[in-house]
Order: sequence, then C-alpha cells, then structure tokens
Amino acid sequence: MQKAIGSKINLFDFNNTLAFEFFSCVSDLINHPLFKKLDNFSQHIKTSRLQHSINVAYYSFLVCKFLGLDYKSAARGGLLHDFYLYDWRTQKQPEGYHAKAHPIIALRNANKITHVNKIEKNCILRHMWPLTPIPPRYLESFIVSCIDKYCASFEVIINMFAKE
Ligand SMILES: [Fe+2]
Ligand SMILES: [Fe+2]
Repeated sequence: MQKAIGSKINLFDFNNTLAFEFFSCVSDLINHPLFKKLDNFSQHIKTSRLQHSINVAYYSFLVCKFLGLDYKSAARGGLLHDFYLYDWRTQKQPEGYHAKAHPIIALRNANKITHVNKIEKNCILRHMWPLTPIPPRYLESFIVSCIDKYCASFEVIINMFAKE
C-alpha cells in the first residue's frame, strides 16, 4: 500500500514533493478506520480494494494536476469511488446489480467520513459509465472513470503474470 501500482514513488515519503502533495489531499481519508477496512476485500485477484482505490486516486491526481484541473477533488473522488464494504460476488445489494449498486453505497459510506463536494460525488456515482447509463459530468470525473478502467486492467494483468 506504499506505492500506486506501476509507480516507483513511495506515497509515504514526505520528502518527495508529489507524494507529499498527494497525501495532503487524502490523508484524512486514508487514515480513517472505516476506510482502512477496504484492505480486507479483494478487488482484482490479489489486489485489495484499498490498493485499487489508491491506484485510481494517485493516477487521477497526476493526470488532473498535469491538465490544470481540480486534482484534489479527483484524488478524493478516486479514492472513494469503490468505498463499499462487502464481497459483491456473494452479497447482493437491494440497490440492484453490482455496477449500479456499489457507487450508491460508496457515496453513502463517503458521506459518513467526510464532506463530499459535487465533483467528488460525480466521480463516485458515475465511475461505472458506460456500464451505467449516465456519463460523468466533469472532466475530473471522466478522468477518474477512465483511470479506474486502466488500473483495473493493469491490476488483472499484473496479477496474472505474478510469480507465486
Ligand atoms: Fe467500481
Ligand atoms: Fe474501481
């Protein structure tokens, strides 16, 4: 959990400017006991949901910073986008099928631990587009949605080729 997948930067190395800036955006979330529970769930094979969330947050932060967008909201929205605490493979939710249900549940959990602004909310609710019909409204949430798919693919491929 020290690094985002494919990155050499230790996110807890505060002598590194990028790591320090990223951590400043999300430290309250990463250190929250409820959020830390994401580490108990597998997201893609051996990649935990916490690691996946950090991957999406960090790369969304980088891309949005490079493009001069609201990188703090992208980092926080990316971190919170899969904030659901159950195994979707075995536990069905009353909100509907997985792609539809888990963003709603993630937003509900996010609201328990922080104030969620409109960009962060859109990042969470619309990250499954186009599997869910309504597209992201903001460039930041569109980027989070794209980075989520990129990270998910990367995580699956890395796990497939990882040595036991
Ligand atoms: Fe998701
Ligand atoms: Fe995700």
